[in-house]
Amino acid sequence: MAAGWSGIEDRKLFDGSLKHLKEEEGHEFAAVDDIRILDGGSIEDYRRYGITGALAQVQFENLLRNPYYLMGTILPLETLVVETFRPIYQRLIKVYPGEACKMVKIHMDDDPDHVAKGLEQIERCGPDVRKEILSAYDQTAELYRLMIQVIRENTGA
Ligand SMILES: [Fe+2]
Repeated sequence: MAAGWSGIEDRKLFDGSLKHLKEEEGHEFAAVDDIRILDGGSIEDYRRYGITGALAQVQFENLLRNPYYLMGTILPLETLVVETFRPIYQRLIKVYPGEACKMVKIHMDDDPDHVAKGLEQIERCGPDVRKEILSAYDQTAELYRLMIQVIRENTGA
């Protein structure tokens, strides 16, 4: 979507968005497979929490406003992955079968340069756009934290 909304004058945003899209290809199937292996069920058996929908809606709205705001959505999640997924994966595979931990593993092995590349992209933006990217960053980080809190409250994790 960011590629589609980027102007023809910004080839870097267009190319970067398409590259990122390609890197995300199939990730949704990893999550679905993990659930199937863990409990034999389907993702349809799970309730989508309101906060999960709110997180997705905020990201969608930010993208509609300006494709650069996607950076504010991507960066906190990429940073979270780089800083936490390796130790999380090490804990998970002690409790669950390795083939049920694909969603964490594929992101753990993602390019750690994503954070640096995201920061470079933000540096190329003007001050007004950077301010909105920072706002999107804060929104995403806070909603993600709340989503984890709701999951914990509902699962006792
Ligand atoms: Fe992904």
